[in-house]
Amino acid sequence: MDIPRIFNISESAHRIHNPFTPEKLATLGAALRLESGTRVLDLGSGSGEMLCTWARDYGISGVGIDMSSLFSEQARLRASELGVADRVEFIHGDAAGYVADEKVDVAACLGATWIGGGVVGTIELLRKSLRSAGIILIGEPYWLQLPPTEDVAMGCGAGSFTDFLILPELIASFGDLDYDVVEMVLADQKTGTGTRRRSGSPCADGSKRIPTTTS
Ligand SMILES: C[S@@+](CC[C@H](N)C(=O)[O-])C[C@H]1O[C@@H](n2cnc3c(N)ncnc32)[C@H](O)[C@@H]1O
Repeated sequence: MDIPRIFNISESAHRIHNPFTPEKLATLGAALRLESGTRVLDLGSGSGEMLCTWARDYGISGVGIDMSSLFSEQARLRASELGVADRVEFIHGDAAGYVADEKVDVAACLGATWIGGGVVGTIELLRKSLRSAGIILIGEPYWLQLPPTEDVAMGCGAGSFTDFLILPELIASFGDLDYDVVEMVLADQKTGTGTRRRSGSPCADGSKRIPTTTS
């Protein structure tokens, strides 16, 4: 079981497999007010940069699941390199349906919400691993402007223009699910260039959002 070879090859040198910089990952960690001992679950953890740097900078512990054996191995090497291998674990596997044995403080999925069949399903999946009043962290693309036709949407690498929302609608959709968006760190067009070129998706940009349940 692995992801298509093209991604393992084209992204083999990536530490972050999203239009995001190390600085923005650190900003996100600060926004989450991570403390030593905070438990983080990351579905689709890629090469582990988020968990590894947050373990180094904030003392979190974490588990990442990723279907790429290459990225999972790179994540373990990065953990050793940063001296946090005792605090973060990387599991090679399909994260669809994955629920943590022990509830976590932060349950995350950045740029891989197809794992739960879309944003709604992924939030529902993450919620099963989340302690009461914990934080769900979602990274999701959105349209900077709605493509005028399906052809244009498909030319941007989407299956359909309905695959993504524009930002205000995306934010509102979390409210519809009874979650509050408490923080948000946006990718920008400069940081997104590499990923957009790779994915051929010039109209979509990346974003990170942190909705917490109101219940
Ligand atoms: C866009 S990358 C994001 C990786 C990471 N979150 C980051 O920001 O660097 C998507 C990741 O999802 C992983 N992936 C794809 N399908 C998956 C699945 N069913 N279960 C677990 N990981 C999956 C890929 O291997 C890839 O690392």
